[in-house]
Amino acid sequence: MSTPSVEPTPSGAAAPARVVVLVSGSGTNLQALLDASADPAYGARIVAVGADRDEIEGLARADRHNVPTFVARLKDFSSRDAWDHALADRVAAFEPDLVVLAGFMKLVGPEFLERFEGKVVNTHPALCPSFPGVNGPGDALAYGVKVTGATLFVVDAGVDTGPIVAQTVVPVEDDDDASALHERIKVAERRMLVDNVGRMAREGFRITDRKVRFGL
Ligand code: GRF
Repeated sequence: MSTPSVEPTPSGAAAPARVVVLVSGSGTNLQALLDASADPAYGARIVAVGADRDEIEGLARADRHNVPTFVARLKDFSSRDAWDHALADRVAAFEPDLVVLAGFMKLVGPEFLERFEGKVVNTHPALCPSFPGVNGPGDALAYGVKVTGATLFVVDAGVDTGPIVAQTVVPVEDDDDASALHERIKVAERRMLVDNVGRMAREGFRITDRKVRFGL
């Protein structure tokens, strides 16, 4: 498989890569991106934040940074396809170079993936391909693994199955519960996300046979 490469921000350019972030919850990963992008050398700018629900801290974080927000709630649409179409329209209006799903708790649909092919990344709190889905930390803990972590990947039609951009490893402690483990994963996850979104913006990336490489 070979997908289109993403163009890097020209070095020293006045225009950083345009990033739309989608969230569903507390938005600490979003916050890490907002903080990093305050430095022009980071190479990426958060141009909008979208959500699938109202009144979440992720949207409040965007408001505090004067970043435009939008909400597309599944229940307001007649079908999942209609929601997917509307979500893609809202995102497209901001002309993103990259779309980051940062704790976005919905699967984007076929139209969304086609319109932003190879430009949508997601972060998952487990080491893919292990423990996909909504309970990555709890499933890893229940299995008894000694290390877990987080994975940044380019989204495809599966659940946490796309080509892997980066992974970070977090040891499991004997007294962990799922919540404590997830919080420790999130510390490493935020660092991984910031480092790699910055590189994607500054250097570009390409995907060949599932291998994601920086540079063009
Ligand atoms: C992250 O661990 C993300 O991978 C998972 O949900 C968490 C979101 O955290 N899907 P936050 O909203 O960024 O604080």
